[in-house]
Amino acid sequence: MSKNENSETNKTAATQTNQAWGGRFNEPVDDFVARFTASVNFDQRLYRQDIQGSVAHASMLCEAGVLTDVERDQIILGLQEIEAQIEAGDFPWSVVLEDVHMNIEAALTAKIGIVGKKLHTGRSRNDQVATDIRLWLRDQIDHIAPILTRLQDGLIGLAAQEANTIMPGFTHLQTAQPVTFGHHLLAWNEMFERDFSRLQDCRKRLNQSPLGAAALAGTTYPIDRQFTAQALAFDKPTENSLDSVSDRDFAIEFCAFASILMTHMSRMSEELVLWTSAQFQFIYLPDRFCTGSSIMPQKKNPDVPELVRGKTGRVNGHLISLLTLMKSQPLAYNKDNQEDKEPLFDTVDTVRDCLRAFADMIPAIESRPDMMYEAARRGFSTATDLADYLVRKGIAFRDSHEIVGKSVAYGLAENKDLSEMSLEELQQFSTEISADVFDVLTLEGSVAARDHLGGTAPAQVIAAASRAKARLGER
Ligand code: ARG
Repeated sequence: MSKNENSETNKTAATQTNQAWGGRFNEPVDDFVARFTASVNFDQRLYRQDIQGSVAHASMLCEAGVLTDVERDQIILGLQEIEAQIEAGDFPWSVVLEDVHMNIEAALTAKIGIVGKKLHTGRSRNDQVATDIRLWLRDQIDHIAPILTRLQDGLIGLAAQEANTIMPGFTHLQTAQPVTFGHHLLAWNEMFERDFSRLQDCRKRLNQSPLGAAALAGTTYPIDRQFTAQALAFDKPTENSLDSVSDRDFAIEFCAFASILMTHMSRMSEELVLWTSAQFQFIYLPDRFCTGSSIMPQKKNPDVPELVRGKTGRVNGHLISLLTLMKSQPLAYNKDNQEDKEPLFDTVDTVRDCLRAFADMIPAIESRPDMMYEAARRGFSTATDLADYLVRKGIAFRDSHEIVGKSVAYGLAENKDLSEMSLEELQQFSTEISADVFDVLTLEGSVAARDHLGGTAPAQVIAAASRAKARLGER
C-alpha cells in the first residue's frame, strides 16, 4: 500500500492553504482533494530538469534586468543545494505543496527568503512543466539510443557468425524455403534500424523550448526566449504560447516509437520462445536468462523473452492512454495533462529494461545448426527450387508447380525429402529432370542461389552485416 492510499480519515495531507495560490481561498483545500490533485509522488522524478529550467530562467531574468546579479546567484546556489539534498534522499517532499515545482520553490524560499519568491516572475507552472518533461524525455532518449545500438551491434555480430547456418524459413509458420540464420537475424536488425530513426525523429521535434509561454498567453516581462532555449540546449523556442503549454505530441510520439519497438521485440520473443522449445531446439539461451519451475524439475523457461512479449501490452496501453488523454482537450493547459507523466515514465522504464535485457541476451544465443538443418531438410523447403529448375528447362511455371506438387506427395508417402530421391524416382514426374537437379535440391545450393541484394545467400548476409555495422558507426 502506498503511503497515500491508507484510510479515508487520514488527515496528514493538507492542513493549511497552499502558499503558492492560497490567496483567494477562504478555507484550506480538503485533505483528500489535496492528495487527489497532487502529483508530487510521481513528478518528483523531474527534479533535476525542474532545477535546470529554473537556473536558465533565473539567468535570463537577470540578463533582462528583472533580477540583480546577487539575486540570480542566490537563487542558483539555493537550487544547487536543494538538488544535492534531493539526491542525498533527505528532501521533505510534501503533498500539501502539490507538485515538484512548488516543493522546490517553497524550499528555495525557506532557504533564501524573499528572493526565492522572485524566481517565478514571468513564468507559470504550465510552461515550466512542459519544459521539464521535454528535458527529461530528451535525457531518456539519449540514454535509450545507445542501448538500442548495443542490441543491434550484438545482433549484427551474431548474424555475421551465422551467415552460413541454414534453417527453415517460414510463412504461415510452415516450412517455406531454406534461409540462413544470419539473414533471419538481420531481418530483426532492420526493424530496429527503423526504430532508431523514429527515436531520433521524436527527439528532433521535442527539442524546442516552451519556456516563456507562461500560463498560456506569454508574459509582460522583457523575457528573452532565445536565451533560455540556448541555455537548455534546445534548438529554438516554440512558436506559439497556447500550443506550447498544451502540446504533448512529443510524449505521444515517444510512446508510438516505444509501442512499435516493443511490437518488434515481441515478435523476436515469440520466435525465441518457439526456438528454445523441445519441438524446435534451434537455439540455447544461457541459463542466466532463464528460470526453472518449482514443480517440474526438468523445466528451463525462457522468461526473459516471455516477459518482454508480455510487457508489450502495457506499453501499447500507455500509448492509448496518452492519445485518449489528449483527445478533445480544448486549448490551452488543462489539469488533465498531469496524467501524462505516469504512462510516459512507465513506458521509458519498460523500454529501457527490455532493451537492456535483450542487449545482454542476444549475443549469448547459441545456435544449433544441426537441428536447424534437419528441420529445413524435413520440410520440402527446396520445392520452389525444383520448380524454378523445371522452368529453366522450358516448362511453364504453373506446370512445373504441379509436377513438384506430385513429387512432394510422393515424398510424403515414401518419407523422403526431394534431395533424397533417386534420379529415376524424380524422373517419374518429369523427363526434363536430369542429374544436375541435385545442385538445386540441396539446402546449400538453394540459399546460395538467392544471391542478390536483400537475398539470403551467405555472401549477401556477410555483405549486409558489414553495411549494417557501418550504419551503426555513423550514429
Ligand atoms: N503538476 C502539474 C502538471 O503536472 C503542473 C502544472 C500545473 N498547472 C496548473 N495550472 N495547475 O501538469
